[in-house]
Amino acid sequence: MPKELLLKNKSFYVILTNLTVILTVIFMCGIVGAVSERNITPILLAGLTRLEYRGYDSAGVAVINKEQNLECVKTLNKVKDLNEKVTGIEGNLGIAHTRWATHGLPVESNAHPHIVNNRLALVHNGIVENYSELKQFCINQGAIFSSDTDTEVIVQLINITMQKDNLTLYDAVRQTLPKLKGAYGMAVIDAENPDEMIAVRQGSPLTISLGFGENFISSDPMALLFISQQYVVLEENDLAILRKDSVVIENSKGKVVFDSNDTQKSKYKIITSTQDDAGVTSKGGYRHFMHKEIHEQPKAIAETLEGCISDNRLLVECFGQEAAFIFSKIKRVQIIACGTSYHSGMVFRYWCEDIIGIPVDVEVASEFRYRNPAIEKDVLFVAISQSGETADTAEALKIVEKLKKQAEGKNHWSILTISNKAESTLVRYADLVFLTRAGFEVGVASTKAFTTQLVALSLLMIALGKSQKRLSETVEKRMIQGLRKVPKLVQSALDQEEQIIELSNIIANSQSALFLGRGTMYPIALEGALKLKEISYIHAEAFPAGELKHGPLALVDEETPVIVIAPNNDLLIKLKSNLEEVSSRGGKIYAFEDKNSKLTRTKSVNVISVAENVGRISCPLLFTIPLQLLSYHVARIKGTDIDQPRNLAKSVTVE
Ligand code: AGP
Repeated sequence: MPKELLLKNKSFYVILTNLTVILTVIFMCGIVGAVSERNITPILLAGLTRLEYRGYDSAGVAVINKEQNLECVKTLNKVKDLNEKVTGIEGNLGIAHTRWATHGLPVESNAHPHIVNNRLALVHNGIVENYSELKQFCINQGAIFSSDTDTEVIVQLINITMQKDNLTLYDAVRQTLPKLKGAYGMAVIDAENPDEMIAVRQGSPLTISLGFGENFISSDPMALLFISQQYVVLEENDLAILRKDSVVIENSKGKVVFDSNDTQKSKYKIITSTQDDAGVTSKGGYRHFMHKEIHEQPKAIAETLEGCISDNRLLVECFGQEAAFIFSKIKRVQIIACGTSYHSGMVFRYWCEDIIGIPVDVEVASEFRYRNPAIEKDVLFVAISQSGETADTAEALKIVEKLKKQAEGKNHWSILTISNKAESTLVRYADLVFLTRAGFEVGVASTKAFTTQLVALSLLMIALGKSQKRLSETVEKRMIQGLRKVPKLVQSALDQEEQIIELSNIIANSQSALFLGRGTMYPIALEGALKLKEISYIHAEAFPAGELKHGPLALVDEETPVIVIAPNNDLLIKLKSNLEEVSSRGGKIYAFEDKNSKLTRTKSVNVISVAENVGRISCPLLFTIPLQLLSYHVARIKGTDIDQPRNLAKSVTVE
């Protein structure tokens, strides 16, 4: 086995110098930091609690106490456990972290903050890609490492730089940054300078919340809304210096772009949060956030439609002032998204090509960003993302931006972001923006974000059709009237919950499940399978029903439930013969139909009627509901951690 393994891809090299080293890649972690005239420990922990929804496997807090000593506490349990451990620790400057690792053991030594010399403490969200070589450099300089993380390399480097030239924390961080390759959002404090925190953003979101006599940092301003509704978003390569009475943000060249004591001259604007914080901490009587969020869908859909419709006509400007002009010119749509958001994009392709005849390509962002796609001249790029922070989608948009600039306006490309977060990275990249109004989604498994994305995409299809005169007024009117009925129809689908609970008892005993659909029901089947595996850990696969005989039929047996989505549409006849293929091989079918599908009930074909007379647009929305409820109840019966399923995080902010 070669000692050195060199992995090369388009944009970076990762050198693994020692294969016995555990490569710790930290994703989606949560960062909170505070500097204040009052004790900050309870604030840090309250902030961490609000970041719990992102998923984590360990948590930690470091505070500089009144005696100017660093006190650090970590846990492999929940933040609640940290709360008990911090009793008696008080101070005016501190940082805290929830860590989510994909590689490497979730042990306390790997949890953040990382401390060096009993003096420096650092929390980090991201990956240091060249950490192996930097670690070797630090070891050569006499550093002793106490973790397997890439993060510790940063704080060791800062320490070495400080010691060598007797530098301040600020200068040492500035000198360290050019040595780091990768993505990071980080905050660092120095026990010998207990009034100041340094924070840096490169590739991983960080925001600064402003207070009176206190200032805060977090990887999601939502974490601190209980204490401050005003915040500033750091841009790429920014460095911030936080003190209790000032915040100064510098860009990569050291130029001041924000000064809290001179906001008039600042380049960055202070954002006042518009998000409704009330629902974040409350499950509103439900046992899990996911269950609450499933039931919030009629309201979320109605609110997403609000302001977009007047007199049964779509207001194209709901996509932005320039939307009608941009939409009239484009010849193709390229959807870029991940996971559930990608599934909504797949539904859009069926709608758009079928109803208005505009070609659509749909690709997962993690593939798009690493190939050289051949793209035509007049393209609308549509990024779909609940969080607006998904790293793969953001990187894909960066590539689009770069190519757009290189073409000096000759390629006529525009970017539309569909997101649930107004102040997010993906929104900032876009020419046009559509905000879904799902409200805060806490459950890792996306539910109301998906159905509101479908609403946004149905409006986009109508807007494109209108702008290119591919849709008559009558059809537009009919579609809008149909959309207006969706909240009610979704509510009646939710009312079938009792029947779904019965079915869940059967599925919960399975090792594996197959999902089948045709047309727009194929992406809905994919979404159903994703939900089931995400939260119940049951292996689930989805196929276009017509593909069965090309391989998946081999999986059909008495033990593997086959879940079928069977609305009464043009493809129903085809689907019925696919069901025959399953039945004749002894497969057990559990079908969701609309009342007019009239599927024959037999011993091996169980049917639940979900709706009646569903239209082309409302159909994928309605049939999503029973699948969400099914996965929820199966997971509840199995007793898994539904809101924070193992190994997953809410917002995938690093590759
Ligand atoms: C959905 O249940 C998942 N948790 C996941 O697939 C998610 O949709 C994906 O990571 C994309 O997130 P985004 O919509 O925030 O970009």
